[in-house]
Amino acid sequence: MRRKLPVAVLGATGMVGARFISLLSSHPWFELKAVAASERSRGQRLREAVRWLPPEGLPEEVLELEVRSPKPRELEEAEIVFSALPSEVAGSIEEEFAGEGFAVFSNASSHRMDEDVPILNPEVNADHASMVEVQRKRRKWEGFIVTNPNCTAAVLTLSLKPIQEEFGIRRVIVSTMQALSGAGYPGVSSLDILDNVIPYIRGEEEKVERETLKMMGAPFKPASFKISASCHRVPTLDGHLEAVFVELERQAKPSEVAEAMASFEGEPQRLKLPTAPKPPIVVRGEEDRPQPRLDRMEGRGMAVVVGRVREDRSLGGVKYLVLGHNTIRGAAGCSVLNAELFAALKLL
Ligand SMILES: NC(=O)c1ccc[n+]([C@@H]2O[C@H](COP(=O)([O-])OP(=O)(O)OC[C@H]3O[C@@H](n4cnc5c(N)ncnc54)[C@H](OP(=O)(O)O)[C@@H]3O)[C@@H](O)[C@H]2O)c1
Repeated sequence: MRRKLPVAVLGATGMVGARFISLLSSHPWFELKAVAASERSRGQRLREAVRWLPPEGLPEEVLELEVRSPKPRELEEAEIVFSALPSEVAGSIEEEFAGEGFAVFSNASSHRMDEDVPILNPEVNADHASMVEVQRKRRKWEGFIVTNPNCTAAVLTLSLKPIQEEFGIRRVIVSTMQALSGAGYPGVSSLDILDNVIPYIRGEEEKVERETLKMMGAPFKPASFKISASCHRVPTLDGHLEAVFVELERQAKPSEVAEAMASFEGEPQRLKLPTAPKPPIVVRGEEDRPQPRLDRMEGRGMAVVVGRVREDRSLGGVKYLVLGHNTIRGAAGCSVLNAELFAALKLL
């Protein structure tokens, strides 16, 4: 059996951090050695500092870990760091770790649009992993930074990939219904969101549009199809639901598009990575699915669920609904899958 790689989680006390810990605490390839968060939490046991727990809870031995500062010298026993830091602080902290030789897998948006940093959603663009070689040379780093996409873009691009491969894409329009956990903990005030929908999420539409093009193009060359996003916060807990409208390059029946999605496999499935869902896209035939409460844990939260694939006459293509778990597929789970991809490709 191969040696387990030692890892640490930055931002371990938040919502994505807790998801990371849950995924890593029984991981076959990685061993969680340390956790870090802000000065507020430093020196406390994780059980005292953690602000939110996943429904399955966290293992006792992990809850006993002492929360440290997100500094390379405090986390020396780790080789990989998973970052769930807020983007306002993540940028320079992640650079410091990469400069000190750590492999950094980040959820924060700080470096996503840097030219030499891949945004990796491994079923969609595993070939972008090679960008870290350019990054290391340019920045003279021993380590590197790999980001994963914004949660909405993660779900969207996974559903679009088989369509792009088989039929080509001219234009995408997406309208979202995004869960509360997407805003972190404590998120949106209950008095603002109960009995309500907030029709604006700061910066979200721009992120979805540009990250989708970066991921769905070649390394260093974004895709050129047109994309328009409208993003909205709704009072569900977990699971982003997205209504997607696609103009195709080559005409296809909805049943052909549904079949292309249902039979799709990416590099994580081919490499049999431990966190890879099989299948990555579940296509449902019922007219009232997917639903967040019923479908968000498909593939242990790593699969996306597609439904209502039908013709779009106005665009000349198809429209459908896609649902994905925002803090698993859209955040911590995607980062863990990225690290597994790097381990399998011997890039660590
Ligand atoms: N929620 C999602 O669906 C989602 C999806 C994709 C990406 N992301 C991204 O993932 C990151 C984490 O999101 P989240 O939802 O987990 O946020 P969160 O619940 O607010 O957690 C933030 C974490 O960062 C720590 N932190 C805050 N300020 C810090 C500082 N100055 N120095 C060091 N640590 C600091 C917090 O520690 P303390 O507890 O000590 O304050 C906490 O552990 C963000 O960049 C977010 O945009 C989130």
